[in-house]
Amino acid sequence: MEKRNKFYITTAIDYPSGKPHIGHAYEKILADVIARWQRLKGKEVFLCTGTDEHGQKIERYAKRENKTPQDFVHGMSAEFLKLCGVLNISNDDFIRTTEQRHIKAALVLLEKVKQKGDIYKDKYEGFYCVDCESFYCECDLNQGNCPVHGKKAEWIEEQGYFFKMSKYAQAVLEHIEKNEDFIFPKTRRNEIINRIKEGVRDLSISRSNFTWGIPWPGDEKHVIFVWFDALINYISAAGYPQGERFKKFWPADIHMIGKDILWFHTMVWLSILLAADIQLPRTIFVHGFINLSGEKISKSTGATVDPVELVAKYGTDSLRYFLLREFSFTEDGNFSEAALIRRINSDLANDLGNLVYRSLTMVEKYLQGDLPQSYSQTSGKELFAFAQGLSGAVDEQMREYNFSQSLAKIWEVINAANKFIEDTKPWILFKEKKEEELKDFIFVLAHVIKKVQENLFPFMPQASEAIKEQFGSEKVKKGKPLFPRIENAD
Ligand code: ME8
Ligand code: MG
Repeated sequence: MEKRNKFYITTAIDYPSGKPHIGHAYEKILADVIARWQRLKGKEVFLCTGTDEHGQKIERYAKRENKTPQDFVHGMSAEFLKLCGVLNISNDDFIRTTEQRHIKAALVLLEKVKQKGDIYKDKYEGFYCVDCESFYCECDLNQGNCPVHGKKAEWIEEQGYFFKMSKYAQAVLEHIEKNEDFIFPKTRRNEIINRIKEGVRDLSISRSNFTWGIPWPGDEKHVIFVWFDALINYISAAGYPQGERFKKFWPADIHMIGKDILWFHTMVWLSILLAADIQLPRTIFVHGFINLSGEKISKSTGATVDPVELVAKYGTDSLRYFLLREFSFTEDGNFSEAALIRRINSDLANDLGNLVYRSLTMVEKYLQGDLPQSYSQTSGKELFAFAQGLSGAVDEQMREYNFSQSLAKIWEVINAANKFIEDTKPWILFKEKKEEELKDFIFVLAHVIKKVQENLFPFMPQASEAIKEQFGSEKVKKGKPLFPRIENAD
């Protein structure tokens, strides 16, 4: 296979119907870790996120706030952009579907699909969930309610434009069946394979019972269906049809999404791309949901968690660490502030923070702040080798995107280093003036901390940089402890 030196990774683009919640934060963090890790591996990375700003849902939320949809999304999209900064997401772009560059690309793509003969006008009748912006067949509803939001689905009857999605069902099915790694993790494949086998209908891709969308070219009573519009962000952000970045980075290596929108990213998106003769993305990466005490996060019931508030209280890297370490991205998990505090106090303040702080203190006390530049191997050879192998161990986990296990590998080294300090008892070496042993001891600790710092970077970039700042040159620079304990957890 050709060796690719480019890596294009996207997140879903969020509905700015309200402020971002912890689920949005989670997805961005997962994508950011992969992007940073790929950059460390020497890849040229393009990481893109953004907001999905059209559609009936947005129009309704805007109305509720007595705002025009334009004003509403403008204010709310800024909250998502701000979130990227707060979480230290290294995104290279932020796409908004109300931007001209996106609208232009969407129209070019629609025209291509039309040219292919894949669009026709017909009457649509069916159930619709505005919160999902999705049509449902009666068989999917629970007593008339949407299976995701539990709200009453609305009956819609309208003339509109259809995309011949059924024409591509076989090709999409074959693509998924042939490419075992296309949907990651594999456990999500069957759900889609079965659903396609149950039969695929054509997709209504225009709406006329509201106006907030990209006007349908030549028939402006209609707007383009928000999902058709939104999926195109993955190529419009890269500059489709002619942009250099598009030529360089497409096809995307990873579309990172939550489990509720897999159908749109497989059956719908692949059909659109096939119809437009555009290469297919390489991987659809599906993560689970973050719930609150087993319940879905919901703006309407107020059951939500604000990631910006959490970061203000606990710091960016604490939140990143917790989400990456505590949750298995393949499953759903429950968010709890108490668990976050436990992780901060034990893993961050106690294990990592103490290792760094104690080590700095010892270099100052025993060696006047000078890091030894040579190693006589009087002790610590095993730990030295263990730390030396850390990158390999982390890479092995990261190739399977085992974020939690990658962090566990780093913490094995951290814990071994803390034990090394206990076992070596440097205060005795100091008292007995065993200078060579003391230097070797510090040399090994500094080596271990360097390896920890390097490997930590994709997960906790600020902490990694702070450690480098303190330990990165010949003379240490002691600062404040990296992770103070959270004492009064309420
Ligand atoms: O679906 N836990 O937007 P969205 C984890 N605009 N992930 C969650 C989550 C939770 N509790 N809640 C949502 C949309 N997500 C569309 C996407 S892409 C062309 C258009 C995930 O704001 C969700 O699965 O409802 C999705 O991947 C992303 O957050 C945005 O969700
Ligand atoms: Mg959603």
